[in-house]
Amino acid sequence: MHVVVTGASVGIGEAFAREFKKRGATLSLIARRKDKLAALAQELGGDITVIGADLVDPKAAQAALVQAESERGPVDVLVNNAGVQIIAPAAETDPDAGEDLLDLNVATPLRLIRHALPSMLARGSGTIVNVASMAALSPVPGMLYYNASKGGLANASEALRGELWGTGVNVVTVYPGPVHTDMGTKGIAKYEQSPAAGLAPWGTSDELARLVVRAVELRQARVIYPRAYSVSLLFPNLSRWFSLKFAPRLKGGGPA
Ligand SMILES: NC(=O)c1ccc[n+]([C@@H]2O[C@H](COP(=O)([O-])OP(=O)(O)OC[C@H]3O[C@@H](n4cnc5c(N)ncnc54)[C@H](OP(=O)(O)O)[C@@H]3O)[C@@H](O)[C@H]2O)c1
Repeated sequence: MHVVVTGASVGIGEAFAREFKKRGATLSLIARRKDKLAALAQELGGDITVIGADLVDPKAAQAALVQAESERGPVDVLVNNAGVQIIAPAAETDPDAGEDLLDLNVATPLRLIRHALPSMLARGSGTIVNVASMAALSPVPGMLYYNASKGGLANASEALRGELWGTGVNVVTVYPGPVHTDMGTKGIAKYEQSPAAGLAPWGTSDELARLVVRAVELRQARVIYPRAYSVSLLFPNLSRWFSLKFAPRLKGGGPA
């Protein structure tokens, strides 16, 4: 099983690499920090393709996937995990950085799907994993571009699963709530403390990776983690209202 993981140098992507390796997968790992990927590959026993690429550029991303295929064969599992977050008042967000975020978080995953899908369809098997966010179900004030990106990716991912029904190709959409990684820790530090934020459950990369690999194996549709956030699917309006009403304010008096 050839598994390609984007954004595998740290955090959730690194945990995906470890978990798939435990299941005996052949890995191709992509991120900008090739040294970190190489160190991870060595720790996991070597014989892993590591590719340094800036995935903001969808063409560089596609070239990375071509390299992974030429070294390890057709992709069986494509994990679109790489992502960035911008937390700032909407009126102060740099639009160029915001559009880079949209490229990395949405355009690149869609391009990689477009590249990998014909071969998966021809073989009648394969899985596409798209790491969205709880922000797709309950958007959080203070993340203009991030909310747009994760809502867009999740929507595309859920509909693609329906489109591919009966083809043998499965799509798993992942909705992490807050997870202890660089992104999670830096993100929460941008908000003021609040009672509601204090109650929000946090998860770990390792447990999320375990649940996602199991979802791939069981051909499940989605993973919401920590599980308490599943309430967002059952009561979407209530969950959205709660998120907008009780979201903590941005530090520095921002309008979120
Ligand atoms: N942590 C959370 O609380 C949380 C919650 C919801 C959703 N998520 C989503 O989960 C995914 C992983 O998040 P994380 O928490 O593990 O974040 P992280 O610790 O910041 O790691 C992000 C990964 O993406 C890679 N990346 C960033 N920019 C890149 C670029 N231009 N080109 C190639 N790779 C790039 C990074 O590698 P390099 O820097 O080496 O390139 C790194 O491997 C993201 O899509 C994120 O939106 C996270």
